[in-house]
Amino acid sequence: ERPNTIYEAIGYEKIEELVEAFYKRVGKHPKLTPIFPDDLTETARKQKLFLTQFFGGPPLFTQERGHPRMRMRHSPFEITPSRRDAWLECMTAAIDETKIEEPYRTVMLERLTLTATHMMNTPENEK
Ligand code: HEM
Repeated sequence: ERPNTIYEAIGYEKIEELVEAFYKRVGKHPKLTPIFPDDLTETARKQKLFLTQFFGGPPLFTQERGHPRMRMRHSPFEITPSRRDAWLECMTAAIDETKIEEPYRTVMLERLTLTATHMMNTPENEK
């Protein structure tokens, strides 16, 4: 049977693993540490809820936090093009570490790239 969603294809455990691998990198990335909290436990917990929903699983994020409004939730942070690139670099490495396979790898990165680009709110030269 062909899975209907990315969530169905990869499962919740992969999302958990992916998010752990991702924030391990975020917490060490010089472009990202200035805007993230030192303790990423709570950030990672929310991201697991969000990515579950984003990839077609149950709406866990909305149940707990309401409408995603991702751009608005990111407005307190200066998200420059190079921070977007750094975020995607951490995510690509995390997807590879987690061994998420094609075609899911490419589809996930495409969707995340669109959303990350939508999150930019600060030109490079102001930062
Ligand atoms: C929260 C940065 C892209 C999903 C945050 C926080 C920062 C941040 C600093 C707050 C962390 C905290 O206080 O716990 C960035 C940067 C991005 C980016 C630099 C680069 C473009 C994305 C993308 C997604 C995403 C593409 C989803 C696909 C989330 C979620 C939260 C969050 C779900 C938690 C929101 C909440 O408080 O409920 N992000 N983010 N972010 N981000 Fe991002």
